[in-house]
Amino acid sequence: MVTRTTPRESRGSDVIDCRTVEVEHSTGGTSTSDGNVERGPAGARAEPPRSRVKVPKPGFRREEGRRDHRHFPLKNAPLRRRILGLTSFPVFRFARCPQAVDSPAAPPLAPARFSHNVRFQTMNSIAPAQLLASLNWRYATKVFDPARPLPADVWAALEEALVLTPSSFGLQPYRFLDVRTPAIRAKLREHAWGQAQVTDAAHFVVFASRAEMTAADIDHLVDRIAEVRGQPREASKDYRDMMTGALLAPDRKAHIPAWAAHQAYIALGELLTAAAVLGVDACPMEGFDRAKFDEILGTQKDGYTCLVSAALGYRTAGDKYATLKKVRYPKAELVKVV
Ligand SMILES: Cc1cc2nc3c(=O)[nH]c(=O)nc-3n(C[C@H](O)[C@H](O)[C@H](O)COP(=O)(O)O)c2cc1C
Repeated sequence: MVTRTTPRESRGSDVIDCRTVEVEHSTGGTSTSDGNVERGPAGARAEPPRSRVKVPKPGFRREEGRRDHRHFPLKNAPLRRRILGLTSFPVFRFARCPQAVDSPAAPPLAPARFSHNVRFQTMNSIAPAQLLASLNWRYATKVFDPARPLPADVWAALEEALVLTPSSFGLQPYRFLDVRTPAIRAKLREHAWGQAQVTDAAHFVVFASRAEMTAADIDHLVDRIAEVRGQPREASKDYRDMMTGALLAPDRKAHIPAWAAHQAYIALGELLTAAAVLGVDACPMEGFDRAKFDEILGTQKDGYTCLVSAALGYRTAGDKYATLKKVRYPKAELVKVV
């Protein structure tokens, strides 16, 4: 089966988590935009004997009400093809199906490289229904499979989602502790009501936020802006003054821990949504003794305090919480149009 992918299709598609799969029956394999080549599922052979068939890879599904393929004209088609009327080729696309993403056969997402220039381009987006499918699929996972790690590229994307979190003034008054040492995790669990997620999930991230802000914190950001944007520090003078007034004024001191905590919780939300979209299970966790966590992780010596945490990995089949209905107030009660 001969396989090929068409970058043009990926760019034109309005579904970002969508892969191009093109299958020709002549040799018997499929490939996706990440270049993986594998044999098509058995179902592919049951299709009518056309030259190309639509075969969703594991982790992908056909989208309802959406055309499965587009035809791209073949420039300078050879005479043989023109005679047969084969002057275009179809390219099929399938939406990523979050429920299936965690199946062992699911292929990893194609690595993506972004630069700031990406913001000048029209951003592809996922369909609203796909977002809601992911958010309904996620739940606060109680029983993780301790033997199932996250693929490296998936974890790298989640780390990057944390880093990309927006924050007030861009000051990032938090740190994310990716606790990997089993002995430390075991100790933390003792101070987290014994919750098994702490030790069993593939990753356990503790969010620590700034206990107080100093001029050095503001300078740190000013330095970083100068470095990243290649501009002199003086260019940020007004911005620096504004941050100083807003955060270092004597009457602001008491508000800093809550302000910093709000920023860290935004990061938690960003991580949870990113995980759901990538088909990764997660449990946000506040049920722990913050002072003990601080002690074990030594966060206070760096001026941070532990606030909240998140376990990430893959659920086990037996987690009964996975099948419970979501309890949310009606939209009309939560969302007020004013
Ligand atoms: C900030 C925060 C802290 C939480 N702490 C815990 C926790 O310590 N242990 C736990 O099992 N679940 C915890 N949860 C999960 C919630 O109980 C859960 O999100 C909520 O009941 C809604 O269910 P769902 O997430 O499955 O939709 C926490 C959730 C949030 C947002």
